[in-house]
Amino acid sequence: MKAKHLFILIAIASFTGVTSVGFAQRVSYLKPQPRVLSLIRQNFADADKQYKVMDGKLALGQFPRSYNQAIDKFITSNSSWWCSGFYSGTLLNIYEQNHDAALLADANRSLDSLAREQYNTHTHDLGFMMYASFGNAYRLNPKPAYKQILVNSAKSLSTRFNPKVGCIKSWDARPSDFLVIIDNMMNLELLFWATRETGDSSFYKIAVTHANTTMKNHYRTDYSSYHVINYNPETGVVQQRKTAQGFSDESAWARGQVWGLYGFTVMYRETHNKKYLEQAMHIAKFILGNPHLPADKVPYWDFNASNIPNALRDASAAAIMASALLELCRYADRADAITYFNTAQSIIQKLSSPEYKAAPGTNGGFILKHSVGHFPQKSEVDVPLTYADYYFVEAMKRYKQFSTR
Ligand code: GLY
Repeated sequence: MKAKHLFILIAIASFTGVTSVGFAQRVSYLKPQPRVLSLIRQNFADADKQYKVMDGKLALGQFPRSYNQAIDKFITSNSSWWCSGFYSGTLLNIYEQNHDAALLADANRSLDSLAREQYNTHTHDLGFMMYASFGNAYRLNPKPAYKQILVNSAKSLSTRFNPKVGCIKSWDARPSDFLVIIDNMMNLELLFWATRETGDSSFYKIAVTHANTTMKNHYRTDYSSYHVINYNPETGVVQQRKTAQGFSDESAWARGQVWGLYGFTVMYRETHNKKYLEQAMHIAKFILGNPHLPADKVPYWDFNASNIPNALRDASAAAIMASALLELCRYADRADAITYFNTAQSIIQKLSSPEYKAAPGTNGGFILKHSVGHFPQKSEVDVPLTYADYYFVEAMKRYKQFSTR
């Protein structure tokens, strides 16, 4: 192992250790409420039943994507869709709570069908696809085969990095364009994992460089984020700033804001560099202080949608935000930590209500209703989405972890 790799590993190891101790000391004032814990227990029991309903609708090699209630149509994808890893990830996280062997068997079948994507170099979404799935699988059962799949996935993702731009390419486009979307912050966790596991610091460096470039070019002065930056692939100069999935180029698309919130929180966890903590807290301030954030904290699909307060809400953005805040509150000062924790708690309570949580046996087996995929394209609007379930389950797990510390 090269000396620089050893140094990074020691830095990461000491950070992890220090932070674990720090968590216990610093968050004792964040106390889960018994009635919310009770809601969560019920949610996990219901989620177990729902995911068995879903399993009955899936052919081998298919992955759940959404459900059209009007025509009772369950919508699936193949393994190359960016959401293919959320199904096994959700199953594994529910299994971890309920120890239901049937869910583990479903997860294992899905992982088998997903494994081929480790060699996919045509997508930047390998972090979503492979870390939500095999990352959780390896965490629960550290098999060498899972590790190899994750390392290969990190290598495939790294092929999309352009050092002149300082970013991983998101969407393939014309040779003169290099498109990077804010969502890509979510793929970096896989790279940090890969450096920890292999000692190869190149993954770590790519993740840090990508985050620094994103911090510089994706954010407006109010810490809202554009969705897409188009770079010149030869010079790295910004050619365009756009918001493809939001209301307009200058609007704050809700899921984009929370991808950034989650991503920069992970950056702080993985590097211990305060500039990422500050960035995550600035983003949190933009979101939580936004006059268009509803009192129940479930965002409209875009903070600048023209028809607020009649705009659709996005349960997926709410779930991602709750999960991110339940990590960020461990690193923030006491006053902000309490605000983050209470906001996440409010979201969990709201998403647990019949307004958002599907009655068992309905909704194609998905846990949550009312997410918005791609509004401008009229695609997946006000429907269940597999990633809304994944981050809701993760948020509930994170909330529960405060009761054992
Ligand atoms: N592109 C991923 C998303 O819709 O959030």
